[in-house]
Amino acid sequence: MAFFKWPFKKRKVESFARNATLKLVPNHVAIIMDGNGRWANSRGLPRFAGHKEGMDNVKRIVKVANAQGIKVLTMYAFSTENWRRPKQEVDYLMKLPKEFLNIYLPELIEENVQVKMIGHRAQLPAHTQAAVEQAIEQTKHNNGLILNLALNYGSRAEIIAAIKAVAGDVSANNINIDDIDEATINKHLFTTDLPDPDLLIRTSGEMRVSNFLLWQLAYTEFWFTDVHWPAFTEAEFVKALDAYQQRKRRYGGL
Ligand code: FPP
Repeated sequence: MAFFKWPFKKRKVESFARNATLKLVPNHVAIIMDGNGRWANSRGLPRFAGHKEGMDNVKRIVKVANAQGIKVLTMYAFSTENWRRPKQEVDYLMKLPKEFLNIYLPELIEENVQVKMIGHRAQLPAHTQAAVEQAIEQTKHNNGLILNLALNYGSRAEIIAAIKAVAGDVSANNINIDDIDEATINKHLFTTDLPDPDLLIRTSGEMRVSNFLLWQLAYTEFWFTDVHWPAFTEAEFVKALDAYQQRKRRYGGL
């Protein structure tokens, strides 16, 4: 499938978005990038066009997040449930990480971004794995924003794998059942070396979590918008970050 040649003018990065100063910078922002298909349909374009524009938008938001001092940006790019889509769409979505990194890896390196991935890697096509692994390797010493791509990610599958690992440790007498705590589980999650998300953003009007980071979202602040992901501009992102400033996080306390 040929990649879309884009008929639209490139959007200018809105400089105020990058210059906005935040008192409370979330360490970790997770985004469910929904609405690519609807964005495309509403313009009489095929769904692929929405995914392509959505891919370019990842780079725009990465730039703002990095400039704002956010440490981790986790982007839900393909879920364990997305395999149910028509093969043509799955094949296209599987090409996007490589396409994204072909275009943007040099800029990401220049911007000191570290690429990481969460999800079951082995089921991804070899070309997708290779592109992501190369980007992880090439950016492993960068210490700016972590761009964490969730690919073939499903939270229930992640939790099941963690339970199996802990059960294995119990039956091998490496750990006592009574000693199992949150840290024991965290150790076996894809996100083991990352802080829990402070802010979850979902675009496109749906208000659900869709098997994303179920364990890790325990105390995360949620922000929903009707805007479709390809139209989620830097200014929209700043709106979410502004809303986060008003939240009173009590973690169950007073
Ligand atoms: C959901 O919208 C979106 C996806 C399943 C794919 C998200 C992928 C990207 C934004 C690009 C990936 C980028 C990189 C860097 C790999 P939908 O297609 O379900 O939209 P709809 O609900 O309007 O149909």
